[in-house]
Amino acid sequence: MKQITFIGTGYVGLVSGAGVSDFGHQVVCADIAKDKIAQLQKGEIPIYEPGLGDLVKRNVQAGRLSFTTNVDKAIQEADVVFIAVGTPQGDDGDADLTAIFKVAEMIGKNLNHYKVICTKSTVPIGTGKKIIDIIQKDKGEDKAFDYVSNPEFLREGSAVKDFLWPDRVVLGTNSEKALKIMQDVYRPLFINETPMIQTSIQTAEMIKYASNAFLALKISYINEIANLCDEVDADIHEVAKAMGSDGRISPKFLHPGPGFGGSCFPKDTKALANLARKKGIQLRTVEGAIEANQAQKERMVEKIKGFFSGNISGKTIAILGLAFKSETDDIRDSSAIDMIQALLDGGAKVKAYDPIANNNMSKLFPSVVYCKNWEEAVKDTDGTVILTEWREFRGIDLEQMKALMNMPVILDTRNILPIKDLNRLGFQYENVGRKGNVKNDS
Ligand SMILES: NC(=O)c1ccc[n+]([C@@H]2O[C@H](COP(=O)([O-])OP(=O)(O)OC[C@H]3O[C@@H](n4cnc5c(N)ncnc54)[C@H](O)[C@@H]3O)[C@@H](O)[C@H]2O)c1
Repeated sequence: MKQITFIGTGYVGLVSGAGVSDFGHQVVCADIAKDKIAQLQKGEIPIYEPGLGDLVKRNVQAGRLSFTTNVDKAIQEADVVFIAVGTPQGDDGDADLTAIFKVAEMIGKNLNHYKVICTKSTVPIGTGKKIIDIIQKDKGEDKAFDYVSNPEFLREGSAVKDFLWPDRVVLGTNSEKALKIMQDVYRPLFINETPMIQTSIQTAEMIKYASNAFLALKISYINEIANLCDEVDADIHEVAKAMGSDGRISPKFLHPGPGFGGSCFPKDTKALANLARKKGIQLRTVEGAIEANQAQKERMVEKIKGFFSGNISGKTIAILGLAFKSETDDIRDSSAIDMIQALLDGGAKVKAYDPIANNNMSKLFPSVVYCKNWEEAVKDTDGTVILTEWREFRGIDLEQMKALMNMPVILDTRNILPIKDLNRLGFQYENVGRKGNVKNDS
Protein backbone atom coordinates (compact mmCIF):
# COMPACT_ATOMS: atom_id res chain seq x y z
CA MET A 1 0.00 0.00 0.00
CA LYS A 2 1.29 3.44 -0.95
CA GLN A 3 0.52 6.89 0.40
CA ILE A 4 -0.63 8.82 -2.64
CA THR A 5 -1.59 12.45 -3.21
CA PHE A 6 -3.49 13.84 -6.15
CA ILE A 7 -3.08 17.57 -6.69
CA GLY A 8 -6.12 18.86 -8.55
CA THR A 9 -9.48 17.29 -7.75
CA GLY A 10 -11.37 17.93 -10.99
CA TYR A 11 -12.77 15.47 -13.52
CA VAL A 12 -9.43 13.65 -13.77
CA GLY A 13 -8.02 14.09 -10.26
CA LEU A 14 -11.19 13.04 -8.47
CA VAL A 15 -11.92 10.03 -10.65
CA SER A 16 -8.28 8.86 -10.66
CA GLY A 17 -7.83 9.55 -6.95
CA ALA A 18 -10.94 7.58 -6.07
CA GLY A 19 -9.89 4.86 -8.54
CA VAL A 20 -6.40 4.52 -7.06
CA SER A 21 -7.88 4.34 -3.54
CA ASP A 22 -10.10 1.54 -4.85
CA PHE A 23 -6.89 -0.29 -5.82
CA GLY A 24 -6.16 -0.37 -2.07
CA HIS A 25 -3.87 2.64 -1.62
CA GLN A 26 -4.18 5.47 0.87
CA VAL A 27 -5.17 8.54 -1.17
CA VAL A 28 -5.50 12.23 -0.40
CA CYS A 29 -7.09 14.44 -3.06
CA ALA A 30 -5.91 18.02 -2.65
CA ASP A 31 -7.24 21.14 -4.32
CA ILE A 32 -7.08 24.90 -3.80
CA ALA A 33 -10.80 25.22 -4.57
CA LYS A 34 -12.19 25.45 -1.04
CA ASP A 35 -15.85 24.98 -2.07
CA LYS A 36 -15.07 21.80 -3.96
CA ILE A 37 -13.16 20.26 -1.06
CA ALA A 38 -15.82 21.33 1.45
CA GLN A 39 -18.47 19.61 -0.69
CA LEU A 40 -16.39 16.43 -0.92
CA GLN A 41 -15.74 16.45 2.82
CA LYS A 42 -19.52 16.57 3.31
CA GLY A 43 -19.95 13.56 1.01
CA GLU A 44 -21.21 15.58 -1.98
CA ILE A 45 -19.80 15.05 -5.47
CA PRO A 46 -19.11 18.39 -7.20
CA ILE A 47 -19.34 17.01 -10.76
CA TYR A 48 -21.75 14.70 -12.56
CA GLU A 49 -20.05 11.44 -13.50
CA PRO A 50 -21.89 8.10 -13.52
CA GLY A 51 -20.70 5.72 -10.77
CA LEU A 52 -18.39 8.28 -9.17
CA GLY A 53 -20.56 8.84 -6.08
CA ASP A 54 -20.50 5.15 -5.15
CA LEU A 55 -16.76 4.84 -5.81
CA VAL A 56 -15.96 7.85 -3.61
CA LYS A 57 -18.33 6.80 -0.83
CA ARG A 58 -17.00 3.23 -0.72
CA ASN A 59 -13.39 4.35 -0.36
CA VAL A 60 -14.08 7.20 2.08
CA GLN A 61 -15.96 4.73 4.30
CA ALA A 62 -13.07 2.29 4.07
CA GLY A 63 -10.79 5.07 5.32
CA ARG A 64 -8.65 5.05 2.16
CA LEU A 65 -9.77 8.34 0.59
CA SER A 66 -9.82 11.86 2.01
CA PHE A 67 -9.86 15.45 0.79
CA THR A 68 -7.87 18.53 1.77
CA THR A 69 -7.03 22.09 0.81
CA ASN A 70 -3.66 21.72 2.56
CA VAL A 71 -1.64 20.95 -0.56
CA ASP A 72 1.75 21.38 1.18
CA LYS A 73 0.97 18.78 3.83
CA ALA A 74 -0.53 16.41 1.27
CA ILE A 75 2.73 16.57 -0.72
CA GLN A 76 4.90 16.02 2.36
CA GLU A 77 2.99 12.91 3.38
CA ALA A 78 3.00 11.24 -0.03
CA ASP A 79 5.21 8.56 -1.59
CA VAL A 80 3.69 9.30 -4.99
CA VAL A 81 2.36 12.71 -6.05
CA PHE A 82 0.05 12.86 -9.06
CA ILE A 83 -0.33 16.23 -10.78
CA ALA A 84 -3.88 16.50 -12.17
CA VAL A 85 -4.47 20.24 -12.40
CA GLY A 86 -6.01 21.90 -15.44
CA THR A 87 -4.07 22.85 -18.56
CA PRO A 88 -6.59 25.11 -20.31
CA GLN A 89 -6.04 26.84 -23.60
CA GLY A 90 -4.09 30.07 -23.29
CA ASP A 91 -4.84 33.18 -25.36
CA ASP A 92 -2.27 32.17 -27.96
CA GLY A 93 -3.71 28.65 -28.39
CA ASP A 94 -0.88 27.06 -26.40
CA ALA A 95 -1.64 25.08 -23.25
CA ASP A 96 -1.61 27.38 -20.21
CA LEU A 97 0.81 25.70 -17.83
CA THR A 98 0.57 28.22 -14.98
CA ALA A 99 -1.08 25.74 -12.59
CA ILE A 100 1.34 22.95 -13.54
CA PHE A 101 4.44 25.06 -12.82
CA LYS A 102 2.95 26.40 -9.61
CA VAL A 103 2.38 22.85 -8.41
CA ALA A 104 5.94 21.88 -9.44
CA GLU A 105 7.26 24.71 -7.24
CA MET A 106 5.14 23.52 -4.34
CA ILE A 107 6.45 19.99 -4.78
CA GLY A 108 10.05 21.22 -4.79
CA LYS A 109 9.49 23.16 -1.57
CA ASN A 110 7.77 20.24 0.17
CA LEU A 111 10.03 17.42 -0.98
CA ASN A 112 10.97 15.92 2.40
CA HIS A 113 11.78 12.35 1.32
CA TYR A 114 12.03 10.33 -1.91
CA LYS A 115 8.88 10.62 -4.01
CA VAL A 116 7.67 9.71 -7.43
CA ILE A 117 6.21 12.75 -9.15
CA CYS A 118 3.75 11.76 -11.80
CA THR A 119 1.92 14.01 -14.25
CA LYS A 120 -1.58 12.97 -15.31
CA SER A 121 -2.55 16.33 -16.77
CA THR A 122 -2.20 16.65 -20.53
CA VAL A 123 0.96 18.70 -21.04
CA PRO A 124 2.84 19.63 -24.22
CA ILE A 125 5.80 17.52 -25.16
CA GLY A 126 8.83 18.77 -23.27
CA THR A 127 6.88 19.92 -20.18
CA GLY A 128 8.07 16.98 -18.07
CA LYS A 129 11.61 18.22 -18.39
CA LYS A 130 10.57 21.70 -17.28
CA ILE A 131 8.71 20.27 -14.27
CA ILE A 132 11.83 18.31 -13.29
CA ASP A 133 13.95 21.49 -13.57
CA ILE A 134 11.57 23.45 -11.35
CA ILE A 135 11.50 20.74 -8.68
CA GLN A 136 15.31 20.40 -8.87
CA LYS A 137 15.68 24.14 -8.33
CA ASP A 138 13.52 24.22 -5.22
CA LYS A 139 14.31 20.95 -3.54
CA GLY A 140 16.91 20.65 -0.76
CA GLU A 141 20.36 19.19 -1.53
CA ASP A 142 19.83 15.63 -0.38
CA LYS A 143 16.20 15.13 -1.41
CA ALA A 144 15.56 12.75 -4.26
CA PHE A 145 12.67 12.20 -6.65
CA ASP A 146 11.89 10.53 -9.93
CA TYR A 147 9.52 11.73 -12.59
CA VAL A 148 6.87 9.82 -14.54
CA SER A 149 4.56 10.99 -17.30
CA ASN A 150 1.32 9.03 -16.94
CA PRO A 151 -1.24 10.65 -19.30
CA GLU A 152 -4.89 9.95 -18.63
CA PHE A 153 -7.26 8.67 -21.33
CA LEU A 154 -10.56 8.55 -19.44
CA ARG A 155 -13.65 9.98 -21.13
CA GLU A 156 -16.12 12.10 -19.23
CA GLY A 157 -19.41 10.24 -18.99
CA SER A 158 -17.66 6.88 -18.63
CA ALA A 159 -14.67 8.06 -16.62
CA VAL A 160 -15.00 5.58 -13.75
CA LYS A 161 -15.18 2.60 -16.06
CA ASP A 162 -12.37 3.97 -18.24
CA PHE A 163 -10.12 4.47 -15.23
CA LEU A 164 -10.77 1.11 -13.61
CA TRP A 165 -10.66 -0.84 -16.90
CA PRO A 166 -8.35 1.15 -19.20
CA ASP A 167 -7.24 0.01 -22.65
CA ARG A 168 -3.66 0.71 -21.62
CA VAL A 169 -1.56 2.55 -19.06
CA VAL A 170 1.29 4.68 -20.38
CA LEU A 171 4.27 5.20 -18.10
CA GLY A 172 6.97 7.53 -19.40
CA THR A 173 10.06 7.56 -17.22
CA ASN A 174 13.80 6.98 -17.25
CA SER A 175 13.82 5.49 -13.75
CA GLU A 176 13.47 1.75 -13.10
CA LYS A 177 12.73 2.50 -9.46
CA ALA A 178 9.85 4.83 -10.32
CA LEU A 179 8.55 2.34 -12.87
CA LYS A 180 8.37 -0.39 -10.24
CA ILE A 181 6.55 1.94 -7.84
CA MET A 182 4.05 2.90 -10.55
CA GLN A 183 3.48 -0.73 -11.44
CA ASP A 184 2.69 -1.24 -7.77
CA VAL A 185 0.24 1.69 -7.81
CA TYR A 186 -1.52 0.08 -10.77
CA ARG A 187 -1.07 -3.45 -9.42
CA PRO A 188 -4.69 -4.63 -9.88
CA LEU A 189 -4.51 -3.60 -13.54
CA PHE A 190 -1.09 -5.18 -13.89
CA ILE A 191 -2.51 -8.47 -12.59
CA ASN A 192 -5.42 -8.14 -15.05
CA GLU A 193 -2.85 -7.89 -17.83
CA THR A 194 -3.82 -4.37 -18.86
CA PRO A 195 -1.09 -3.36 -21.30
CA MET A 196 1.50 -1.19 -19.53
CA ILE A 197 3.41 0.80 -22.09
CA GLN A 198 6.76 1.99 -20.85
CA THR A 199 8.37 4.81 -22.78
CA SER A 200 10.46 7.92 -22.39
CA ILE A 201 8.81 10.98 -20.83
CA GLN A 202 8.52 12.83 -24.15
CA THR A 203 7.05 9.81 -25.92
CA ALA A 204 4.39 9.42 -23.22
CA GLU A 205 3.48 13.10 -23.57
CA MET A 206 3.30 12.66 -27.34
CA ILE A 207 1.10 9.55 -27.12
CA LYS A 208 -1.62 11.52 -25.36
CA TYR A 209 -1.66 14.38 -27.88
CA ALA A 210 -1.37 12.09 -30.88
CA SER A 211 -4.32 10.01 -29.61
CA ASN A 212 -6.59 12.97 -28.94
CA ALA A 213 -5.72 14.66 -32.22
CA PHE A 214 -6.42 11.46 -34.12
CA LEU A 215 -9.88 11.10 -32.55
CA ALA A 216 -10.65 14.75 -33.27
CA LEU A 217 -9.56 14.19 -36.85
CA LYS A 218 -11.86 11.20 -37.17
CA ILE A 219 -14.82 13.28 -35.96
CA SER A 220 -14.06 16.15 -38.31
CA TYR A 221 -13.69 13.70 -41.17
CA ILE A 222 -17.07 12.05 -40.64
CA ASN A 223 -18.69 15.47 -40.15
CA GLU A 224 -17.36 16.63 -43.51
CA ILE A 225 -18.48 13.42 -45.20
CA ALA A 226 -21.92 13.93 -43.60
CA ASN A 227 -22.06 17.45 -45.00
CA LEU A 228 -21.38 16.07 -48.45
CA CYS A 229 -24.04 13.36 -47.90
CA ASP A 230 -26.50 16.24 -47.43
CA GLU A 231 -25.71 17.46 -50.93
CA VAL A 232 -25.62 14.14 -52.77
CA ASP A 233 -28.63 12.38 -51.22
CA ALA A 234 -26.57 9.78 -49.37
CA ASP A 235 -27.23 8.59 -45.81
CA ILE A 236 -24.30 9.15 -43.45
CA HIS A 237 -25.50 6.46 -41.05
CA GLU A 238 -25.25 3.78 -43.67
CA VAL A 239 -21.94 5.19 -44.88
CA ALA A 240 -20.47 5.24 -41.35
CA LYS A 241 -21.78 1.76 -40.55
CA ALA A 242 -20.26 0.26 -43.65
CA MET A 243 -17.00 2.14 -43.13
CA GLY A 244 -16.85 1.05 -39.49
CA SER A 245 -17.25 -2.60 -40.35
CA ASP A 246 -13.82 -2.40 -41.95
CA GLY A 247 -11.44 -3.53 -39.22
CA ARG A 248 -8.87 -0.97 -40.34
CA ILE A 249 -11.31 1.87 -39.65
CA SER A 250 -13.43 0.72 -36.62
CA PRO A 251 -16.93 2.05 -35.95
CA LYS A 252 -15.93 4.28 -33.06
CA PHE A 253 -15.85 8.07 -33.45
CA LEU A 254 -17.75 7.87 -36.72
CA HIS A 255 -20.86 9.64 -35.44
CA PRO A 256 -21.52 12.92 -37.20
CA GLY A 257 -22.63 15.83 -35.05
CA PRO A 258 -22.47 19.53 -34.34
CA GLY A 259 -18.67 19.65 -34.00
CA PHE A 260 -16.51 18.32 -31.19
CA GLY A 261 -16.25 20.18 -27.90
CA GLY A 262 -15.31 19.42 -24.33
CA SER A 263 -12.31 20.11 -22.19
CA CYS A 264 -9.82 18.13 -24.29
CA PHE A 265 -10.09 17.90 -28.09
CA PRO A 266 -10.38 21.63 -28.89
CA LYS A 267 -7.51 22.72 -26.65
CA ASP A 268 -5.31 19.68 -27.25
CA THR A 269 -5.51 19.88 -31.05
CA LYS A 270 -4.62 23.58 -30.94
CA ALA A 271 -1.77 23.05 -28.49
CA LEU A 272 -0.34 20.24 -30.64
CA ALA A 273 -0.62 22.19 -33.87
CA ASN A 274 1.00 25.23 -32.21
CA LEU A 275 3.83 23.18 -30.76
CA ALA A 276 4.47 21.55 -34.12
CA ARG A 277 4.66 24.93 -35.90
CA LYS A 278 7.17 26.14 -33.31
CA LYS A 279 9.25 23.07 -34.14
CA GLY A 280 9.03 23.85 -37.87
CA ILE A 281 6.51 21.11 -38.63
CA GLN A 282 3.07 21.90 -39.95
CA LEU A 283 0.44 19.34 -38.89
CA ARG A 284 -1.86 20.01 -41.84
CA THR A 285 -4.27 17.22 -40.93
CA VAL A 286 -4.69 18.44 -37.36
CA GLU A 287 -5.01 22.06 -38.45
CA GLY A 288 -7.60 20.88 -41.00
CA ALA A 289 -9.57 19.09 -38.26
CA ILE A 290 -9.61 22.26 -36.15
CA GLU A 291 -10.79 24.36 -39.09
CA ALA A 292 -13.42 21.81 -40.10
CA ASN A 293 -14.71 21.74 -36.53
CA GLN A 294 -15.22 25.48 -36.41
CA ALA A 295 -16.96 25.32 -39.78
CA GLN A 296 -19.21 22.53 -38.50
CA LYS A 297 -20.37 24.64 -35.57
CA GLU A 298 -21.08 27.52 -37.96
CA ARG A 299 -22.88 25.19 -40.36
CA MET A 300 -25.26 24.18 -37.57
CA VAL A 301 -26.08 27.84 -36.94
CA GLU A 302 -26.71 28.35 -40.67
CA LYS A 303 -28.98 25.30 -40.70
CA ILE A 304 -31.30 26.66 -38.01
CA LYS A 305 -31.24 30.13 -39.53
CA GLY A 306 -32.11 28.58 -42.88
CA PHE A 307 -35.61 27.73 -41.65
CA PHE A 308 -36.26 31.45 -41.20
CA SER A 309 -34.62 32.70 -44.41
CA GLY A 310 -31.62 33.79 -42.35
CA ASN A 311 -33.58 36.12 -40.06
CA ILE A 312 -34.08 34.80 -36.53
CA SER A 313 -34.77 38.17 -34.93
CA GLY A 314 -37.78 37.86 -32.63
CA LYS A 315 -37.94 34.07 -32.96
CA THR A 316 -37.90 31.81 -29.92
CA ILE A 317 -35.62 28.80 -30.21
CA ALA A 318 -35.37 25.84 -27.82
CA ILE A 319 -32.01 24.20 -27.20
CA LEU A 320 -32.16 20.61 -25.98
CA GLY A 321 -28.79 19.60 -24.54
CA LEU A 322 -26.07 21.95 -23.32
CA ALA A 323 -23.29 19.58 -22.22
CA PHE A 324 -20.65 18.85 -24.85
CA LYS A 325 -21.83 15.24 -24.85
CA SER A 326 -24.27 13.10 -22.89
CA GLU A 327 -23.62 11.75 -19.37
CA THR A 328 -21.61 14.78 -18.28
CA ASP A 329 -22.33 18.24 -16.89
CA ASP A 330 -19.23 19.65 -18.61
CA ILE A 331 -20.01 22.52 -21.01
CA ARG A 332 -16.42 23.52 -21.78
CA ASP A 333 -16.21 24.32 -25.52
CA SER A 334 -19.64 22.76 -26.05
CA SER A 335 -21.18 23.52 -29.45
CA ALA A 336 -24.20 24.78 -27.46
CA ILE A 337 -22.10 27.81 -26.55
CA ASP A 338 -21.53 28.81 -30.19
CA MET A 339 -25.16 28.10 -31.02
CA ILE A 340 -26.62 30.14 -28.14
CA GLN A 341 -24.25 33.03 -28.81
CA ALA A 342 -25.20 33.11 -32.50
CA LEU A 343 -28.94 32.93 -31.74
CA LEU A 344 -28.74 35.73 -29.19
CA ASP A 345 -26.58 37.81 -31.57
CA GLY A 346 -29.25 37.31 -34.24
CA GLY A 347 -31.94 38.69 -31.95
CA ALA A 348 -33.60 35.38 -31.03
CA LYS A 349 -34.92 34.45 -27.62
CA VAL A 350 -33.44 31.21 -26.30
CA LYS A 351 -35.01 28.62 -24.03
CA ALA A 352 -32.87 25.67 -22.95
CA TYR A 353 -33.00 22.36 -21.17
CA ASP A 354 -30.27 19.92 -20.20
CA PRO A 355 -30.82 17.13 -17.64
CA ILE A 356 -27.61 18.08 -15.79
CA ALA A 357 -25.88 21.11 -17.29
CA ASN A 358 -28.48 23.95 -16.96
CA ASN A 359 -26.70 25.34 -13.94
CA ASN A 360 -23.25 25.42 -15.56
CA MET A 361 -24.57 27.12 -18.72
CA SER A 362 -26.59 29.68 -16.76
CA LYS A 363 -23.31 31.15 -15.51
CA LEU A 364 -22.29 31.86 -19.13
CA PHE A 365 -25.68 32.90 -20.50
CA PRO A 366 -27.89 34.27 -17.74
CA SER A 367 -30.40 35.70 -20.26
CA VAL A 368 -31.40 32.25 -21.54
CA VAL A 369 -34.59 30.80 -20.04
CA TYR A 370 -33.61 27.48 -18.41
CA CYS A 371 -36.35 24.88 -18.22
CA LYS A 372 -36.89 21.81 -16.08
CA ASN A 373 -37.82 19.45 -18.91
CA TRP A 374 -37.94 19.31 -22.71
CA GLU A 375 -41.69 19.92 -22.79
CA GLU A 376 -41.31 23.26 -21.01
CA ALA A 377 -38.36 24.17 -23.24
CA VAL A 378 -40.08 23.60 -26.59
CA LYS A 379 -43.41 25.16 -25.57
CA ASP A 380 -44.35 28.15 -27.77
CA THR A 381 -41.06 28.08 -29.68
CA ASP A 382 -40.48 28.59 -33.40
CA GLY A 383 -37.74 25.97 -33.62
CA THR A 384 -35.87 23.35 -31.60
CA VAL A 385 -32.20 22.42 -31.82
CA ILE A 386 -31.01 19.13 -30.33
CA LEU A 387 -27.35 19.49 -29.43
CA THR A 388 -26.59 16.70 -26.94
CA GLU A 389 -27.47 13.04 -27.45
CA TRP A 390 -29.07 12.52 -24.02
CA ARG A 391 -31.03 9.27 -23.95
CA GLU A 392 -34.21 11.05 -22.86
CA PHE A 393 -34.23 13.03 -26.11
CA ARG A 394 -34.22 9.86 -28.18
CA GLY A 395 -37.64 8.97 -26.85
CA ILE A 396 -39.25 12.40 -27.26
CA ASP A 397 -42.95 12.16 -28.11
CA LEU A 398 -42.88 14.01 -31.43
CA GLU A 399 -46.63 14.37 -31.60
CA GLN A 400 -46.63 16.12 -28.24
CA MET A 401 -43.66 18.20 -29.30
CA LYS A 402 -45.44 19.38 -32.42
CA ALA A 403 -48.51 20.32 -30.39
CA LEU A 404 -46.39 22.35 -27.96
CA MET A 405 -44.38 24.31 -30.55
CA ASN A 406 -45.52 27.34 -32.53
CA MET A 407 -43.87 25.91 -35.61
CA PRO A 408 -42.80 22.28 -36.15
CA VAL A 409 -39.14 23.06 -36.92
CA ILE A 410 -36.28 20.85 -35.70
CA LEU A 411 -32.54 20.77 -36.19
CA ASP A 412 -31.35 17.40 -34.93
CA THR A 413 -27.56 17.76 -34.83
CA ARG A 414 -27.14 14.29 -33.30
CA ASN A 415 -29.36 12.40 -35.74
CA ILE A 416 -31.33 10.80 -32.93
CA LEU A 417 -34.92 11.44 -34.03
CA PRO A 418 -36.77 8.95 -36.26
CA ILE A 419 -37.04 10.45 -39.72
CA LYS A 420 -40.14 8.52 -40.70
CA ASP A 421 -42.03 10.04 -37.74
CA LEU A 422 -40.75 13.53 -38.52
CA ASN A 423 -42.01 13.08 -42.09
CA ARG A 424 -45.32 11.56 -41.00
CA LEU A 425 -46.01 14.42 -38.59
CA GLY A 426 -45.05 17.10 -41.10
CA PHE A 427 -42.04 18.52 -39.29
CA GLN A 428 -39.63 20.75 -41.16
CA TYR A 429 -36.34 19.20 -40.11
CA GLU A 430 -32.62 19.21 -40.68
CA ASN A 431 -29.96 16.83 -39.41
CA VAL A 432 -26.35 16.03 -40.22
CA GLY A 433 -25.99 14.02 -43.39
CA ARG A 434 -29.41 12.33 -43.50
CA LYS A 435 -31.31 14.74 -45.65
CA GLY A 436 -31.78 12.58 -48.62
CA ASN A 437 -32.71 9.09 -49.47
CA VAL A 438 -32.86 7.54 -45.97
CA LYS A 439 -33.77 3.87 -46.25
CA ASN A 440 -32.95 2.52 -42.80
CA ASP A 441 -34.34 4.78 -40.15
CA SER A 442 -32.17 3.71 -37.24
N1 LIG B 1 -11.61 16.05 -18.41
C1 LIG B 1 -11.21 15.03 -19.14
O1 LIG B 1 -12.00 14.28 -19.72
C2 LIG B 1 -9.74 14.72 -19.28
C3 LIG B 1 -9.32 13.48 -19.77
C4 LIG B 1 -7.95 13.21 -19.86
C5 LIG B 1 -7.04 14.19 -19.51
N2 LIG B 1 -7.47 15.40 -19.05
C6 LIG B 1 -6.46 16.38 -18.64
O2 LIG B 1 -6.37 16.34 -17.22
C7 LIG B 1 -6.09 17.65 -16.70
C8 LIG B 1 -7.16 18.03 -15.70
O3 LIG B 1 -8.40 18.12 -16.39
P1 LIG B 1 -9.78 18.24 -15.61
O4 LIG B 1 -10.85 18.15 -16.63
O5 LIG B 1 -9.76 17.30 -14.45
O6 LIG B 1 -9.67 19.75 -15.06
P2 LIG B 1 -10.58 20.44 -13.97
O7 LIG B 1 -10.61 21.87 -14.33
O8 LIG B 1 -11.86 19.70 -13.82
O9 LIG B 1 -9.77 20.24 -12.60
C9 LIG B 1 -8.56 20.86 -12.32
C10 LIG B 1 -8.49 21.10 -10.82
O10 LIG B 1 -7.18 21.56 -10.47
C11 LIG B 1 -7.33 22.47 -9.41
N3 LIG B 1 -6.12 23.28 -9.25
C12 LIG B 1 -5.65 24.28 -10.04
N4 LIG B 1 -4.49 24.78 -9.54
C13 LIG B 1 -4.22 24.08 -8.41
C14 LIG B 1 -3.16 24.11 -7.45
N5 LIG B 1 -2.16 24.99 -7.55
N6 LIG B 1 -3.19 23.23 -6.43
C15 LIG B 1 -4.22 22.36 -6.31
N7 LIG B 1 -5.24 22.27 -7.19
C16 LIG B 1 -5.25 23.13 -8.23
C17 LIG B 1 -8.56 23.26 -9.78
O11 LIG B 1 -9.12 23.95 -8.67
C18 LIG B 1 -9.47 22.17 -10.33
O12 LIG B 1 -10.30 21.62 -9.32
C19 LIG B 1 -6.01 18.56 -17.93
O13 LIG B 1 -4.68 18.65 -18.32
C20 LIG B 1 -6.81 17.82 -18.98
O14 LIG B 1 -6.42 18.13 -20.28
C21 LIG B 1 -8.79 15.69 -18.91
